Amino acid sequence: MTMLVVVAFVCAFVTAAHPLRVGTGIADITGPPAEIRFMGYANFEQIGNGIHLRQFSRAFVFDEGPNSSTRFVFVSVDACMMADGLRKEVIKRLQKRYGDIYNENNVIISGTHTHSTPGGFLMYFLFELPILGFVKETYTAYIAGILKSIIIAHNNLTPARMEFGEGELLNANINRSPSSYLRNPPEERARYKYDVDKTLTQVRFLSPSNDILGVINWFPVHPTSMNNTNKLISSDNVGYASILMEKALNGNNTLPGKGRIVCAFASTNLGDVSPNIRGPRCEFSGKVCNQEDLLCTKPKERCFASGPGRDMFESTKIIATRLFETAMKVLQQPGEDLTGPVGIVHQYVHMPSQSAPSYDPVEDTFILNSTVSGCLPAMGYSFAAGTTDGPGAFDFKQGTTTANPLWNAIRDFLAEPTAEDVQCQAPKPILLATGRIKFPYPWQPQIVSLTIGRIGGLYIAAVPGEFTSMSGRRLKRVLSAAGAPRVVIAGLSNTYSDYITTYEEYQEQRYEAASTIFGPHTLEIYLHKYAMLAEALAAGTEVERGPEPPDFSDQLITLVPPVLWDAAPWKQEFGDCVKQPQQEYSYGDVVSVTFVSGNPRSSPRHGRWYATVEKREDEEAWVVVATDADWETKFMWFRNSQILGTSHVVIEWEIPQGTPSGTYRIHHYGNYKYILGGIYPYHGFSDSFEVR
Ligand SMILES: *[C@@H]1O[C@H](CO)[C@@H](O)[C@H](O)[C@H]1NC(C)=O
Ligand SMILES: *[C@@H]1O[C@H](CO)[C@@H](O)[C@H](O)[C@H]1NC(C)=O
Ligand SMILES: *[C@@H]1O[C@H](CO)[C@@H](O)[C@H](O)[C@H]1NC(C)=O
Repeated sequence: MTMLVVVAFVCAFVTAAHPLRVGTGIADITGPPAEIRFMGYANFEQIGNGIHLRQFSRAFVFDEGPNSSTRFVFVSVDACMMADGLRKEVIKRLQKRYGDIYNENNVIISGTHTHSTPGGFLMYFLFELPILGFVKETYTAYIAGILKSIIIAHNNLTPARMEFGEGELLNANINRSPSSYLRNPPEERARYKYDVDKTLTQVRFLSPSNDILGVINWFPVHPTSMNNTNKLISSDNVGYASILMEKALNGNNTLPGKGRIVCAFASTNLGDVSPNIRGPRCEFSGKVCNQEDLLCTKPKERCFASGPGRDMFESTKIIATRLFETAMKVLQQPGEDLTGPVGIVHQYVHMPSQSAPSYDPVEDTFILNSTVSGCLPAMGYSFAAGTTDGPGAFDFKQGTTTANPLWNAIRDFLAEPTAEDVQCQAPKPILLATGRIKFPYPWQPQIVSLTIGRIGGLYIAAVPGEFTSMSGRRLKRVLSAAGAPRVVIAGLSNTYSDYITTYEEYQEQRYEAASTIFGPHTLEIYLHKYAMLAEALAAGTEVERGPEPPDFSDQLITLVPPVLWDAAPWKQEFGDCVKQPQQEYSYGDVVSVTFVSGNPRSSPRHGRWYATVEKREDEEAWVVVATDADWETKFMWFRNSQILGTSHVVIEWEIPQGTPSGTYRIHHYGNYKYILGGIYPYHGFSDSFEVR
């Protein structure tokens, strides 16, 4: 057995026609941890005030050796999604450094879709409305971190081998719109055991001496274990799974983001997939519910999903641990070598003006004599209902196919949909004719970025939004028919254009369908386009570039006030510990300390932390054993007085099992903005305490 592996392995390196090289890199991208609204739930009250888990960017660069002309980079970022404008800026900065090695064709950036991270980087107005407009601090934090991760990966390129593996994970996801799924043809559904995909797909990269260089995992699930009441930055279930796997492979003492081996849990066809596996229940009575039938009868009682834990933190941890354990199991099994060339193909597509043959999902064929078209972007009524992962603010129901005159009046004030729009989007009742609203700048994209990257026998279809389970399955079938040995869908990549349901699911008009912005045939257009891209990739032919996405970066509105100034209360200084720890703790206890602080918005302290837990090694030496990026810590900021500029932070550390006994302290770092200008660093630490 061992012999065989060694022989196969040597052959792969000596005879491979396509010698793969891989570079991996990880960098902190944490956005402003205070006063900025989170992207995802569109909850106006979800304003960040601290950090539970930091955000990271994980980059993987692929090519076929130093002289090869094919190269691409795949980046998974702990952010809600990716946006054209931000990607463009990352590419611009890469080009300043490396010339044309990286360009709009070969950079895939995929958001994990965590709903607990700062927004304001998308530019398109609908997405920025709940955030109070564009937030430059988020934008620059994400750009700096993504860029850094790619530079590290670029500098790390080394000969590698890739192995592909899969594993089943049954108790980590459910379909949150099962009635939509049931609209798909029975013959098609009969080919699948579940109404969501339960397969974790993995590729691992190994050095010539068989060391693990990096791992990318894809498992469809919304990172919405943390719900819309959470105000601490969090990479949610998939982000914590990454941290767990990186610790397991780099050594459990490695600080988050500091290990050599990089492990991503990237997004895929998660459109209708929830991690809240206890399912939707009435808020007060606990009865099973759905939003359409108004089964929750107490006043103001909402219907939402949760679980499997007692609270959102425990649920996040449970789902993350299941993802991590499945990924480790796959990693330990023999993998499949998928050799072949590295390649990439990219096109910008103006969706409203597209026509394509329609698609028969039972026969798996394009119907050439039946043509379907795209529509101008529009959002349906059910979009405003939200989902059972995060109910909406108004009294909207999912599954709405009839309109309300009052909302229509408000809609028409913004932009009235034409008769053609109404017909094109039917049966969706249009709540917002986003494609027609010009004020103050575009509300949703019309031009999207479509990419297929190829590493040997694996095709990575990078899609500009959230494909539902069945939409993703159809895309995989189409690409397999076009000759792809293995296919994975990289969700929420490059452009964000909301959801993509199947034509049949669209008829049900639940949240995902109401948010399928280019109309009922959106998926069919994509199937046709990706089939064409796959053919071009296989044949090595060029495709047209397509139209340039608009640049309106000079028109952006921002209503988020800046940090004015920070001050310490009278007779206190920044970094003073005003609530000290107890003298002694044991495992499971929570240490909680309070410091006089500045507003952490003034500097994201990437890779340098606001809070660390330190252990005394000898008289003078303290060693960092945990940071504000670790699961066991929480960093929470509170403004005392806006006028005086005073604030404080609370830092908590839940002492994990297995912590060596000894002397510890909490260290706080920050920056304050001086009233006369300038930003200055400070730090302070707590009294020491014993862990026994
Ligand atoms: C790459 O090209 C350079 C210059 O043409 C050459 O000297 C070198 O041997 C090539 N390297 C490989 C790995 O082919
Ligand atoms: C890290 O911790 C995990 C879980 O506690 C354990 O299974 C693993 O063996 C540890 N790894 C190392 C390298 O110590
Ligand atoms: C969010 O989770 C908390 C528990 O962590 C729970 O009390 C709250 O009701 C949940 N809210 C929603 C809208 O899910």
